[in-house]
Amino acid sequence: MKTRITEMFGIEHPIMQGGMHYVGFAEMAAAVSNAGALGIITGLTQKSPADLANEIARCRDMTDKPFGVNLTFLPTVSSPDYPGYVKAIIDGGVKVVETAGNNPASVLPYFKDAGVKVIHKCTSVRHALKAQSIGCDAVSVDGFECGGHPGEDDVPNFILLPRAADELEIPFVASGGIADGRSLVAALSFGADGINMGTRFIATKEAPVHENVKQAIVAATELDTRLVMRPLRNTERVLTNAAVERLITKEKELGSAIKFEDIIDEVAGVYPRIMINGEMEAGAWSCGMVVGLINDIPTCQQLVDDIMAQANAIIGERLAKIAA
Ligand SMILES: Cc1cc2nc3c(=O)[nH]c(=O)nc-3n(C[C@H](O)[C@H](O)[C@H](O)COP(=O)(O)O)c2cc1C
Repeated sequence: MKTRITEMFGIEHPIMQGGMHYVGFAEMAAAVSNAGALGIITGLTQKSPADLANEIARCRDMTDKPFGVNLTFLPTVSSPDYPGYVKAIIDGGVKVVETAGNNPASVLPYFKDAGVKVIHKCTSVRHALKAQSIGCDAVSVDGFECGGHPGEDDVPNFILLPRAADELEIPFVASGGIADGRSLVAALSFGADGINMGTRFIATKEAPVHENVKQAIVAATELDTRLVMRPLRNTERVLTNAAVERLITKEKELGSAIKFEDIIDEVAGVYPRIMINGEMEAGAWSCGMVVGLINDIPTCQQLVDDIMAQANAIIGERLAKIAA
């Protein structure tokens, strides 16, 4: 398949892997890129720009295909060294950056000058149009189903994607709830030029996370995610567990008086404990409703090949027959 996204990123298939905290290490990005899709290293999982530079070099040792880096602009008090991370990305010769969170306008000129393509993650049409207007090359449109931060508008992809297609001129990938070739064909029919997957890529052989995380994804159904931190306007879709249910009880009891400090035990610093140690009750971790569609742990190559084969079969056989 050839789309504006495969052309822009120089990849074989119109598939990318979204940045994921404590999942998007070099091993993950390289495995996805070697499968002909676009792997992404998660910038802020690396504690310093020097660590990110090292991670980029490690990834380059594992693949000669294009890969990208995610740079998430967090609403935090003590801001990470963003200029340092930008420099590590540019000096590392990375040609695609996935930005997310706050408006990336301040870093765009540096990436433009260095010939780095920027795809900004958006959860609404208005944010996607803003990204287009400030000069982003593409956007990733994340529907309400998505793992991580779906924003506050709650518009699912059946509505959000065609709305984005109607308004945008730059290419976009569909993100959130995507698992297989059916999702890819649906995304293309809505007007997207490709797909982005988070949760699906965690349940792969190469994902550098504890086996407990992969098994939790395979065991979960589409009813097992929860939205947390809505009262803080920082809504996150996570897989339920005892810590998440405790967090939700606090949100109900404290109402609009709730502060970040009230839920710090359930959300702060939990990613390494979950992803590396496999402590599945340690706290809240992002996970999409798409868990309901994930029943196996293939290699990234198998996953990508199956998606492409299924999509091509749907287009060439099922749809062709219906349309005839
Ligand atoms: C465990 C996990 C961690 C994530 N961490 C980040 C992150 O640090 N930055 C970011 O922009 N998106 C993050 N995301 C969102 C993904 O990049 C992607 O947009 C999302 O997972 C798509 O929805 P899906 O899970 O239904 O495929 C994370 C998602 C998951 C599942």
